[in-house]
Amino acid sequence: MIGDHADDAGRTDAGDARKIAEGLAYLSGFGNEHSSEAVPGALPHGRNSPQRAPLGLYAEQLSGSAFTEPRAHNRRSWLYRIRPSAAHPQFTRTDNGALRTAPFNESVPDPNRLRWNPLPEPAPGTDFLAGLWTLGGNGDATQRTGMGIHLYHANSSMRERVFSDADGELLIVPERGGLLLRTEFGLLHAEPGEVALIPRGVRFRVELLDASARGYVCENYGAPFQLPDLGPIGANGLANARDFRAPVAAYEDVEGPVEVVNKFCGNLWRATYDHSPLDVVAWHGNHVPYVYDLHRFNVIGSISYDHPDPSIFTVLTSPSDTPGLAGVDFVVFAPRWLVGEDTFRPPYFHRNVMSEYMGLIEGAYDAKAEGFVPGGGSLHNMMSAHGPDRETFEKASAAELKPQKIDDGLAFMFETRWPVTATEQAAGASHLQRGYDDVWQGLERHFRN
Ligand SMILES: [Fe+2]
Repeated sequence: MIGDHADDAGRTDAGDARKIAEGLAYLSGFGNEHSSEAVPGALPHGRNSPQRAPLGLYAEQLSGSAFTEPRAHNRRSWLYRIRPSAAHPQFTRTDNGALRTAPFNESVPDPNRLRWNPLPEPAPGTDFLAGLWTLGGNGDATQRTGMGIHLYHANSSMRERVFSDADGELLIVPERGGLLLRTEFGLLHAEPGEVALIPRGVRFRVELLDASARGYVCENYGAPFQLPDLGPIGANGLANARDFRAPVAAYEDVEGPVEVVNKFCGNLWRATYDHSPLDVVAWHGNHVPYVYDLHRFNVIGSISYDHPDPSIFTVLTSPSDTPGLAGVDFVVFAPRWLVGEDTFRPPYFHRNVMSEYMGLIEGAYDAKAEGFVPGGGSLHNMMSAHGPDRETFEKASAAELKPQKIDDGLAFMFETRWPVTATEQAAGASHLQRGYDDVWQGLERHFRN
């Protein structure tokens, strides 16, 4: 949407927002050096910071990595905006609502397998930011390690306010209701089945395209998500870089009060600007937001025997300083064929040194016949024993092994190297399922000697 700009800061209604969302144009390619201008001539050429930037704009760099990180990991963008970000009044503390941040010390880490139903209905007028609710996480946001797991349930668009997160990038996983994300870089449309990735520090506003919206958020405090290496898979497969869509430049030229909420080291801080900070007319760089359709994921699996480890389903990974050991992996269980011969085809029983939070976007998951519902989630902490439920085990052990299409569900996992500690509100939530252990009771003794 070249040249799109709103007349105000978020007064579009859901119908208008949907029309805008469905007409968006995008740039493509994860990690590319993108560039875009909403007004022809707004982007300087041949240099980043000319003596006078075109059209009277201010030039500003947004760094997503230290200046000196190796080129392959270096992330920054140059923004050409109506006012520099520095033109803001003092921030003051505001209520953190149900947002919590690592280190998570409210509860002791729990070795039990935990499962939650979806978040309850929010109060009327709850927007995306107010509707964020932290389930738990690990690491330490100030040390840039680990992650926070949040859910959101909203029934109102953000109006006259924007949000930015200095603590980490946000991987937003809608489960119900479409979102129009108005970011400094332009507009993104994310429906259930798609994910949006908002880099650390990027300001954005969420407008709802339906009566309500529900979903999950991984707040990654660590190294920015990147596509996993493909090793012997070769040059193609899993999430293909070209399927990630970045916005084209679009700006708001709004004079008037706009609330800016900044999450910084675990607390929310607010300031009232006299203009919208979504005023970037042109930009270039590789520190940009993306949207990705999980249905585009190229699923690779066994065509002989055995169920591959779920790492084969990694969409994005946040590497740590130990090769192969992710701070967090984002993994999707997308529609696929199962053809393994003499194979127990659902996920096997296992105990994992990594910790696994799973959510469900639609349908059902092939290892859980019931109780794991869209909008809910399960937490299998490190070394907690889990696997198929009784019913799934009995059925899969007796099934005729003809080719079978798994096409009725879309589940995902945030898999992390550190144990996940639930927040107090999650450990004591009314929507925490009691008796989840029962899923594995009654697994019959089949041993014969
Ligand atoms: Fe697992």
